[in-house]
Parts: sequence; C-alpha cells; structure tokens
Amino acid sequence: MDLEKFLELMSEGGFFYPSFEIYRGKAEVGGFYDYGPLGVELKRNIIEKWRRVFIYPYQDFIVEIETPIIMPKIVFEASGHLEHFTDAIVECTKCGRKYRADHLIEEELSKKNISIKTEGLSLEELDQLIRRYGIRCPACGGELGSVKPFNLLFQTTIGPYSENTGYLRPETAQGMFVSFPKIFNLMGRRLPLGIAQIGKVGRNEISPRQGLIRLREFSQMEIEFFFDPENAKCPYLDELDIKLRIIPEKDVAAGIKEPKEFRPREAVEGGIVPNEWMAFFMGLATIYMNELGIPLDHQYFLAKLPQERAHYSSASFDQMVYSERFGWIEVSGHAYRTDYDLSRHMKFSGYDLTVERRLATPKEVTEVRVYPNPQRIKEVFGNEMPKVMQAISRVDPKWLVNELNDKGKATINDYSITKDMVFIKEERRKIYVERFIPHDVEPSFGIDRIIYVTLEHAYTEVNGKPLLKLPPDIAPIKVAILPIIRREDYVRIGKLIFREVSRAGLRAVYDDDGTIGSRYAKYDSLGVPFAITIDDKTPIDNTVTIRDRDTKAQIRISIDRITQVITEVISKRSTINEIAKSMGLQLIIRE
Ligand code: GLY
Repeated sequence: MDLEKFLELMSEGGFFYPSFEIYRGKAEVGGFYDYGPLGVELKRNIIEKWRRVFIYPYQDFIVEIETPIIMPKIVFEASGHLEHFTDAIVECTKCGRKYRADHLIEEELSKKNISIKTEGLSLEELDQLIRRYGIRCPACGGELGSVKPFNLLFQTTIGPYSENTGYLRPETAQGMFVSFPKIFNLMGRRLPLGIAQIGKVGRNEISPRQGLIRLREFSQMEIEFFFDPENAKCPYLDELDIKLRIIPEKDVAAGIKEPKEFRPREAVEGGIVPNEWMAFFMGLATIYMNELGIPLDHQYFLAKLPQERAHYSSASFDQMVYSERFGWIEVSGHAYRTDYDLSRHMKFSGYDLTVERRLATPKEVTEVRVYPNPQRIKEVFGNEMPKVMQAISRVDPKWLVNELNDKGKATINDYSITKDMVFIKEERRKIYVERFIPHDVEPSFGIDRIIYVTLEHAYTEVNGKPLLKLPPDIAPIKVAILPIIRREDYVRIGKLIFREVSRAGLRAVYDDDGTIGSRYAKYDSLGVPFAITIDDKTPIDNTVTIRDRDTKAQIRISIDRITQVITEVISKRSTINEIAKSMGLQLIIRE
C-alpha cells in the first residue's frame, strides 16, 4: 500500500485532515482532526451500523441516551478519574520540552534495538529506565527531570465562579452511570439493562502524533450494560456464529503472542472471559468489525494484565485490529467494571443506586432503618418539610447513618440534616427481596480509529489507480450519475435522475466533467459503489446502465427502477451480478 497516496486521497477526497490548517505554527494544533463532507457521511454510516448491530436487535433492553460533555468535578472525583486518569510526563531540564515518558522510553530504546513494553509501569519504574539507559532529551540532548503524573482531563469552569470546576468528559460512560436510576425507572426497573451513548470526549494527550489514532478530542460509542451478577446468563450467546480470537491473560503473562480461537461460550466456560455478556459483546464486536471490511485474521482480543487495566476494571480485553501504518491498534475496549462505578457514585451522591432481587427462599436480616422526625424537620425547615422528608427517604440509610456518625450532619439536596431530625433503628425482619448494586460490562468503541482502519482496509490500487472498496452500506456516496458525454439531452436526464434519487434519500453525485473513464476512476477512488451512466439508448428507451465499483460489471435497467435496485443491493449486501441473475438481466462489461 502506498501510504502517502492513501493519505493524500483521504485529505484531497474530503475524508479527514488535520484541523486548524491556517494556524499551523502559530497555535498548538496537534491531536485535532476535521472530517470533510465524505468523512462526515462515512462516520454517520459507521455509527448507524453500530446501532444496527448493538442496539436495534436488543432495543427491548438496550437504549441510547445523550448526556452533557461537561460534567461537574464531583462526577470525576467519584469515578476516580481525578486521581487515576494520568499519563507519565517528563520534562527536559535544559530546553523545557515535555514528553510522555513511556512513549519516549520505547522510542529512544527502539533506536538502540532494545524492545521494552512500558504499559502499566509505575512512575518510579519509568524513572529508573530513563536513568539506567541514560535517555536524554531527543531535541537538545539535555538531561531529563523526574517522571511525574499528568492528569488528562480538560478542565474548565462552569458559570462565572472560578471555584466551580467542571471537566470535559474523557469517556461517555459516566453519563450512563450518573443517569442509571432515571433510565432504570424508565425501562420498567428490570435487569439486564444496557445504556448506550455516542458522542465526543476529550483527553489532554501529552504529545499526540498518530493522526486519527490518538486525538485530544474524539468520539466514542459505548454501552454500559448492567446485570445481576447472580444471574448473568445471556440468552443470545449461542446465536453468534463466530469464533473469538483471544490472547488470554495467562498467555499474555507468559509472553505468548498468538491468539487462540474460542466459541463465545467456550471462552466463558474456560474462564478466559469472566461472564456471558462480556463474551457476547466481544462476539458482536468481531462481527461488526468484520462487516466494516476487517478480515477475522486482522483482529483479535488482547487480555490486559492487572497492572495494565484501568482503575475501574477487574478484567479487560482490547480489540486489536491490524493497520499497515500503525501496526496492531486498539479499536474497542471491553471492561468488566463490576459495581465499581455505581458504588462510587452512590457514595459520593448519597443517592440509592441499588436495585431489588427477588429471593427464591426468604432470609432473616438485621437492617438499619432511618425514619424522618417530622416535628423537628418542620421546626427547622418550615414549609419545606415534605420535600426534606422525601429527600431523606431517597438516600441510602447506611450512607446517611455513616455521614451523621462521622460528620454530625449529612447534606441531601442542599438540606443539612442533623441527627435530631431522624430516628435510627435496627430492625430484624424476614425479607423476600434483597437489594444489590448491579454489575456492569462495558464495550467501548473509538469511532475515529474505526474510521481509520476501515478506510485503510478498503484502500487498494488497481493498475496504479486507487480503489476504495468500502462496503456499500457505509459508503458515503452511494451512486454517481454520469452522462457518458456532456450532451444536452443526456445532461437533462442525468440531472432529473440525480434529483429523483436524492429525494428518495440516496446520497448521490452528478458529474459530467471529463471523460467517462476518468470519472469512473474518480468515484472508484472515493468509494462510490454504483455509477449510473446515461448513454445513446437512454433517450430512446428510458434505460441506463448501473456499474458496480468492484467488479466493473454493468446491467441495464429502466430509469424508474434505479432507486429500488440500488437500495436492494445495499440492504441485502448483494452484488450487481447477483441482482442481474435474480432479474434475468444480462451483464455488460465494457471497460
Ligand atoms: N469508557 C472506557 C474508556 O473510555 O476508555
């Protein structure tokens, strides 16, 4: 693959290119990319396809929401991102340049043919590597200072008060955790429940230099999937006709680099993947990437070792896809976040995030109960008494008792509650239901990386000419309308067809500029799967040819069937050849 030609096509064709071009050299612009007209359309189609694989077939228990991208500080205190979401940074003591320490070490050592994996190493271990190998500033040769943590959250203020700190979300996930009780109620208080979100996130990367692969602002498609850990059966697991290619945790630890194949159920029963829902989403992820044009041998799941996992995860797999330009890159992460996030938000918000489980046989338990003291609440809060009573009844009693014991008061919805406003009782009783915090598995996809690998895999050259073999259902433009020459009657008919297919909802382009050969080549390179040609027969019998981008085969059909045929080929994922066969039409090859 000619990478330079490919990247030029991406930019010149309007797929993607670096942002803020006119300010290059005058402002920090690394890690930001624009999508042009074709890129936007491709992104939309890739997202819609994700919905078709992950949401629509399971819409009775997986729903999509949209939450803010700026969130108050307490959300990220609760989620652990303020404490843990850091990369290691090192500064040159001479020129002041700053580097991401792990990347710098790997790059500098690879120049000496030393291969070291730095993922998961502590600040001290990175520091020791710098001293042991005498690594210096690659720009000026100066000595490097000590390795420090650098938090990747973009910080802002919310409103006019500088103390009111907010952060740009680094994952869409926290929106789903924070709104779990709302959606759980909306969806009939049932588990399992998947909450999906698609949107922008920001990470203040230290020195992003890998195009669409490492961005400071990028888009994610995520599902937080909540389930009862005592009933983690996935009824759809055996429907997946796919094998998962996995390098399991113990193989990673032993340095084995070859994936092994498992049916999703085998992976769970063999203890490779911790639960059925996680294996299910890994199966869907394999199918999804495959339908975007990534062959199965260009993808596998890499288990993360404990020290490599995010702070919230008790088991993680990265879905790796091969890229000619970047090697193996992660396109999705699959984490078993257990009850970590909901427990933390319950602790920080005081809001009860538990749900009910019916017991097969009743249990005797001792419970702490908190009852509001209406008289005292009325004395302190007057007419607000009903609201205060309601607020007290909504919080977790254990949290309230702890706050009252530790701090002497608890703040609920801005009301300061003291011990004299409640009666705390321990009660023994028989229970038929118990409360628990749901567990969560998270499939998380980086859209921009998926766009990149999809385009790279679609790109090929035939006789030195670029051809973008994007699957028709995700191709940005579905059909090019091309009069064979620019003749008045051909132009008039061509423009009418263009208007018609556009009105029918197909993304199309009309072009009568240049030879038909050069126009075919242009739209092949932009991934347009079908070209309609208006020729000498068209004014006589109202027929046109439809040409298939990949096989170059053509069929002749009447103008009024264009939309129907193209829509059918796209939705059935069939080819022009198959359509010709089913319609009893003759194939024409004229190139
Ligand atoms: N939600 C997982 C991640 O953004 O990495």
